[in-house]
Amino acid sequence: MTTTLIDDIGLLVTNDPRVGELTAELRDVAVVIENGLIAWIGDTKAAPAADERVSAGGRCVIPGFVDSHSHLVFAGDRSDEFEARMKGERYAAGGIRRTVGLTRAATDDALLANAAALVAEMRAQGTTTIEIKSGYGLTVEDETRALRLARTLTEETTFLGAHVVPAEYTDRPDDYVALVTGEMLDAVAPYAKWIDVFCETGAFDLDQAREILTAGLARGLGARMHAGQLGESAAVRLAVELGAASVDHCTFLGDADVDALAGSDTVATLLPGVEFSTRQQYPDARRLLDAGATVAIATDCNPGSSFTSSMPFCIAVAVRDLGMSPAEALWSATAGGARALRRDDVGVLSVGARADLVLLDAPSYVHLAYRPGVPLVGRVISG
Ligand code: NIG
Ligand code: FE
Repeated sequence: MTTTLIDDIGLLVTNDPRVGELTAELRDVAVVIENGLIAWIGDTKAAPAADERVSAGGRCVIPGFVDSHSHLVFAGDRSDEFEARMKGERYAAGGIRRTVGLTRAATDDALLANAAALVAEMRAQGTTTIEIKSGYGLTVEDETRALRLARTLTEETTFLGAHVVPAEYTDRPDDYVALVTGEMLDAVAPYAKWIDVFCETGAFDLDQAREILTAGLARGLGARMHAGQLGESAAVRLAVELGAASVDHCTFLGDADVDALAGSDTVATLLPGVEFSTRQQYPDARRLLDAGATVAIATDCNPGSSFTSSMPFCIAVAVRDLGMSPAEALWSATAGGARALRRDDVGVLSVGARADLVLLDAPSYVHLAYRPGVPLVGRVISG
């Protein structure tokens, strides 16, 4: 067993409610890691000896980012759609089918290599917990394959067979819903922790979303929902009613949606990379926070609506355009993401938590937004 001491931490973000509010910051402290867990936090001068010592050199240390929403198992490129959107084209759910065609045609090795490269990108930018969805296979075989591959990269895997109705089911969407809730769910269940539905114009309606999430819950999966990306809908309240861990996008919300989220433990997950890449209006984090909702920030890394793997980028946009303070954005990208995955061992630096930490090349996490686009992640320690 080796122990690691990180000392001379100028500013430590703990997110530990026993330490203080929100980011619960400590100054001039040290952390000891043992067996992949945080074993001790205290004054640098009182730090115990350890096998290995890392000096933070007075810089800022934060919990590793928890990216609770990504779609990494895919093949191909849709940069032409991005270019068209920058010229005024609107984003629509239909582009997903392009990626479905390319993904079905790809080998296991190619899909895994692409997903693993994106995971490496995320990690280099400070992300230590990653959720990965299926959703570009849309056959029993291809969805199972996506989740089997995703499972080799993370425990947080989500079945998104209900991403869009695939072309071959255009005239009989109900048959596709029956497939998703029947044979496909049976096949993917061993590889999936969560089930998700894209409930939006051009994808699945409310009744279909209810049927799909209910079937997943009955199989022991946790529920999540894509809703409020392209317009307001009752899907947000449906997700809350079903006890979903999170509703993702939340760009268009009515007052009743905000109230429902605030009165629940369903997290509102905001994905600022999407609005950046689609030129839509940004979600209003301030309104959600002021109402008392729990907010997470995630990348939604996917080839269509948001091809960024960078949580620091999302934090910068959240501060600049979603109405969040730097501390709120950092909390949402760490502890908020953990809440969205119903985890209490990540997103927080307290004794007993996973030793997932990021040493920033900066005196404060405020620099993540103050110096956008600058690689400030100096070192990532994961477990
Ligand atoms: O979260 N909204 C649905 N799914 C993805 C987009 C997928 C795509 O365009 O390929 C999202 O934005
Ligand atoms: Fe998504």
